[in-house]
Amino acid sequence: MANQKLKKIAVLTSGGDSPGMNTAIRAVVRSCIYNGIEAFGIRRGYQGMIEGDIIPLKSRDVSNILHRGGTFLKTARSKDFLTKQGRAKAYKHLKEKQIDAFVVIGGDGSFKGANQFSQEFDIPVIGIPGTIDNDMYGTDYCIGYDTALNTVVEAVDKIRDTAGSHNRLFFIEVMGRDAGFIALRSGIATGAEAVLIPEVETHIDQLRDYLDDSYTRKKSSGIIIVAEGDDAGGAYEIVDKLKDDLDGYDIRVTVLGHVQRGGSPSAFDRVLAAQMGVAAVNGLLQGKTDVMVGIINKEIVYTKIEKSVKHNNHIKSELLNIVEVLNV
Ligand code: F6P
Repeated sequence: MANQKLKKIAVLTSGGDSPGMNTAIRAVVRSCIYNGIEAFGIRRGYQGMIEGDIIPLKSRDVSNILHRGGTFLKTARSKDFLTKQGRAKAYKHLKEKQIDAFVVIGGDGSFKGANQFSQEFDIPVIGIPGTIDNDMYGTDYCIGYDTALNTVVEAVDKIRDTAGSHNRLFFIEVMGRDAGFIALRSGIATGAEAVLIPEVETHIDQLRDYLDDSYTRKKSSGIIIVAEGDDAGGAYEIVDKLKDDLDGYDIRVTVLGHVQRGGSPSAFDRVLAAQMGVAAVNGLLQGKTDVMVGIINKEIVYTKIEKSVKHNNHIKSELLNIVEVLNV
């Protein structure tokens, strides 16, 4: 049933930024206006909500932002929102501005906050998954993942050039605190010799044997992609554990870091963000709340936020197998 009571909807970005967040904000704002609803932006995520940093957004306020990385509303990881008093202040500001519902664009932590907030206070909320980690359950892709992946691939290709020239083995650390999606797909796309991810236990002995064997097969240069959250440690830690026993290899480490979070969103991320922004407003109009918008097999789906944060998205074992098969 359509929710006729919605007159004012606010949008915020929260947690780590991701390319395409601006595209999603624009889609939410314009979709509100299209449906006769006033749109508002909350600056600096939940921290701005607590401080009442809420501004009206008209159609022209979101012109020329869809292709820019970052988030023009800014973002934060708010510690105050973890407290009951902080959330109460946030609710007070939403009520003062007569905000009827809000859309949060972010990842796991942001959705946990939204879920808790909506259980304590009576305000509809819909989440849009925006995180380069791509680790939300209930969608095939999160906004920003595709762009980050392409950034990693471009960087690794460049490193492979110099690795080959010098016969060096590079350990390249990519982002992914709890998830190996960036590592796995970038590893396949760049022909990495191995990919180490948090979802699969890393055995240093096996890795050493594998690299020894590769060396005897005349592989004197190579790329190992390490997700920062791997159970055996980051790239530097893993190299420390290995280096004394690896004869023959000249090893270097590169940590790609926050370069992965910036940049103009890819066409894929722009389309995804536009679809999800429109679907978030449509969902609120249909009376949905406490759900995350997702796209699964090209169809829009709404998953309870509680489910989207409690279940990890699964790594496909076929993809891991591809890394092994293609390294004969
Ligand atoms: O959650 C996205 C992410 O980029 C992770 O991959 C990374 O561990 C984290 O954010 C870094 O956070 P910050 O920018 O606060 O250092």
